[in-house]
Amino acid sequence: MKKRLVVLSGAGISAESGLRTFRDSDGLWEGYNVHEVATPRGFAANPQLVLDFYNMRRRDVAAATPNAAHKGLAILEEHFDVHIITQNIDDLHERGGSTKVMHLHGEIFKMRSVADPFTTYPITGDINLGDTAPDGYQLRPFIVWFEEEVPMLGEAIPLVASADIFVVIGTSLQVYPAAGLVNYARREIPKYIVDKKIPASRIPNITSIEKPAGEGIVDLTDYLMQHR
Ligand code: APR
Repeated sequence: MKKRLVVLSGAGISAESGLRTFRDSDGLWEGYNVHEVATPRGFAANPQLVLDFYNMRRRDVAAATPNAAHKGLAILEEHFDVHIITQNIDDLHERGGSTKVMHLHGEIFKMRSVADPFTTYPITGDINLGDTAPDGYQLRPFIVWFEEEVPMLGEAIPLVASADIFVVIGTSLQVYPAAGLVNYARREIPKYIVDKKIPASRIPNITSIEKPAGEGIVDLTDYLMQHR
């Protein structure tokens, strides 16, 4: 019976794949007003601006490839029951080989009707104003914007609570409710955080690996192999 390893990942794990994070110095939120491109009101005010923002991100993700951190987590499935809870909308965990990935904030290669948050349709190209879903309403990215519900939270909480080992990789832990998941990891289990600059966090009994994810995954794997 493999121990359950639950990983909470953020934009930092995809940084070495060339995808910009949000809050680093050259982050996405430096170049854009998050309220204009990642909120329902922003979409209502200027839908084409928002559609174009995600059309560009979709192209960036299509051009990116998984890095050593994504691949390293996939390899850990040989020894652990690995579940990844990611805040990322890219598919690099899946392309890196991970088989159990939950996207808290949606997925860039899926879209939905503005009138139906649950039915999704695949998309690899652009979504434009006037593109409608079968229900006749405008199509939008299948992304959880600020001020919107996080539908997967109900599944994510018990998953973290069931972990035998908990790992955080590449997230500033500034966005809730995702960041609050760390509080559901049982106190007594081993916890690790990998980040190129460890964020302040009130997580008790955690081991910090302050390195870029592509390097830190090696240290993390060495630590984890002690817990098999
Ligand atoms: N290796 C490891 N960690 C890295 C690397 C790297 N190469 N590069 C950056 N980081 C770390 C940063 O130090 C920071 O802690 O990744 C984290 C990135 O933080 P954010 O940019 O805030 O990204 P994230 O935590 O995923 O944001 C959460 O905010 O805007 C919303 O919905 C969006 O899902 C996103 C959420």
